[in-house]
Amino acid sequence: MFIVLLGPPGAGKGTQAQRIAAATKLLHVSTGDMFRENVKAETELGKLAKTYMDKGELVPDEVTIRMLLERISRPDAAQGAMFDGFPRNVVQAVALDQALAAKGARIDRALLISVRDEELFSRLGGRWICRSCGTLYHETNDPPKKPGVCDKDGGELYQRDDDRPEVVKSRLEKQKPPLDLIGHYRTAGVLSEINGEQSLDAVTAALLTVIEG
Ligand code: AP5
Repeated sequence: MFIVLLGPPGAGKGTQAQRIAAATKLLHVSTGDMFRENVKAETELGKLAKTYMDKGELVPDEVTIRMLLERISRPDAAQGAMFDGFPRNVVQAVALDQALAAKGARIDRALLISVRDEELFSRLGGRWICRSCGTLYHETNDPPKKPGVCDKDGGELYQRDDDRPEVVKSRLEKQKPPLDLIGHYRTAGVLSEINGEQSLDAVTAALLTVIEG
């Protein structure tokens, strides 16, 4: 099964993808995480991506699509994957459709997680991430047992550079799923919209109901 998770920055795509991957064993493919790994490793791709990420802008399609297609060409993506943060526009969606069609596959579900802007600001400002395992927390909504320390592996928690208020403002202006992208999946008959303002568990349950249905 191939699934795309759509939603504005901070909607809960990464959090829910981690939970769904744990429940279903589906491979979690996050273009944001791939870019951040490249930034950390100071690769050429990372240096280029950082110039866009720091401004709250999308990395150019050509670069992003090449990276994603390489990722899904690997054997662990043969049977299915859950895409988090990709596609962001119709150009990326069509590239993904074509790559899957070449394998005899297609997007089976497109899950749009909807959250209002006021809530997104508070979610991004309070987000903390484990440096070693990537587990996501929120300082009030989903806090770790001990501040600054990951419950799962004791790793140090950090805040993303692009969660600074001025970058969040730009991301929310420029990076919400565009209507034509939503229309692309609605026309394909695979779109479901989920209210992302429910509790973490309720959102997970709603997503799993659609996936398993
Ligand atoms: P990316 O990492 O994909 O960022 P994003 O789309 O902005 O999404 P986020 O990761 O910020 O939010 P999320 O929806 O995953 O929310 P989360 O689960 O963390 O991309 C980063 C950058 O890379 C982009 O700006 C761009 O430059 C580049 N990029 C990536 N993909 C690209 C592409 N395809 N094309 C071009 N450029 C690309 O949750 C947020 C917080 O809320 C957490 O603290 C969590 O605990 C909390 N929370 C979640 N759900 C709930 C809930 N139900 N109730 C209460 N709190 C909740």
